[in-house]
Amino acid sequence: MNKFLISVSLISILGFWSCSSDVSEIETINNDTKLGLIDSDVKKNADDLTSMPTYTDNAPGLSERVDRAFENAPPMIPHSVEGLVPITMSVNTCTTCHLPDVAVTMESTAMPESHFTNYRPEVHLTDGTYDVATNKNVTQESLQGKLNMARYNCTQCHVTQANVDLAIENTFRAVYRKSDLSVKSDLSDNITEGVK
Ligand code: HEC
Ligand code: HEC
Repeated sequence: MNKFLISVSLISILGFWSCSSDVSEIETINNDTKLGLIDSDVKKNADDLTSMPTYTDNAPGLSERVDRAFENAPPMIPHSVEGLVPITMSVNTCTTCHLPDVAVTMESTAMPESHFTNYRPEVHLTDGTYDVATNKNVTQESLQGKLNMARYNCTQCHVTQANVDLAIENTFRAVYRKSDLSVKSDLSDNITEGVK
């Protein structure tokens, strides 16, 4: 028992009986085998978790798209990614189905214009330091259909969905300004919103 608990217990012995329920709460919080909301021993391996997330087995083409978490959020990957990850410098299977020129045939969703645009401002090297170009306009340079390599690692932003038991239900409900924005994005058309 640490000093904090001892002093808390002493206070309760000294007559603050109404505090006794608070003491047991503190003991639970201090018990490092039972931290937070996880119902398993934090000192054990993740393999011992009582409920492991289950990912979909549905192959691409057999899954159902998930509504966007909020307007212009990166869509979740609804299909299995077994055999499709990791994405390496030489192999990126995601592009074989999601590049716009194949998306219609594959019945996938085409990667949006934003992924073929450079939004990074020009930087100049002057006397050993990099400066952002003096032109303060929002940079939006079309790469003429060439994938912006800053977007190459798809799974950095797009993630698969798993069925998990939530300790606390997420009550967030997205509000889309246009109803079809629950299933598509319009970011590249509105990228300067609030800026220009
Ligand atoms: C064999 C083709 C194929 C491959 C490879 C593939 N996908 Fe897909 N993807 C699809 C299809 C088809 C859909 C539409 C849902 C369905 O029919 O399963 C889809 C849906 C998606 C969606 C949801 C789009 C939306 O509008 O909600 C995302 C995000 C996605 N894929 C990302 C990826 C990523 C990231 C990879 C690489 C790890 C990948 N996909 C690999 C075919 C593919
Ligand atoms: C830096 C984060 C990031 C990376 C990396 C990224 N995306 Fe996205 N993606 C987004 C965001 C944010 C959106 C929604 C807003 C938009 O259109 O840009 C999106 C939208 C999409 C959509 C839906 C398009 C639509 O019209 O609804 C597809 C499909 C997609 N991305 C596929 C991919 C694939 C495949 C890769 C890898 C080659 C990839 N993305 C890499 C962030 C990312």
